[in-house]
Amino acid sequence: MKTVLIGYMGSGKSTIGRLLAKKKNSPFIDLDDYIEDKEKMTVSEIFETKGEIYFRKQEHFYLKEILALKQDFVVSLGGGTPCYASNMDILIADKNATSVYLKTSIATIVQRLTNEKNQRPLVARLKEEDLHEFIAKHLFERSYFYHQAKHLLTVDAKKVTEIVTELALLVD
Ligand code: S3P
Repeated sequence: MKTVLIGYMGSGKSTIGRLLAKKKNSPFIDLDDYIEDKEKMTVSEIFETKGEIYFRKQEHFYLKEILALKQDFVVSLGGGTPCYASNMDILIADKNATSVYLKTSIATIVQRLTNEKNQRPLVARLKEEDLHEFIAKHLFERSYFYHQAKHLLTVDAKKVTEIVTELALLVD
């Protein structure tokens, strides 16, 4: 079974995905890294030079390419992936994939993104004092898609090792 991790920016998808893959002894794919590899540009450069619409198209294309791979793996999607181009419908319909929404509170996300703002084109230009309001609204809009995941795991105030153990039980 393929394990697909979804959640807002800063929810720990990549860190947790990498550790889960190690525990399951399966390959790990980070969709953003995969896109950067294929496009030979960072996600920020793609947003900057080609725009978000181009990024969303490529994201959709590469998600399908990854899901078509024959072997099992753990994949972490980008925060926006489930919310565009019927990506969530594709995931739900895929009998070989199970999705988990890593749910984080607004406060945790604000704290993490304040420190890592620059790598994320959607928030890079926001002033720190506007971050909370932006995230609260954005997360509310996206929650509709995130909640379509097969499983939900609340990851606030938990150690990474604890999260990975819980996750492994969920997707086994
Ligand atoms: C995005 C999240 C990013 C990346 C891009 C857009 C989003 O991934 O795909 O900057 O729309 O939320 P992370 O969730 O890994 O930061």
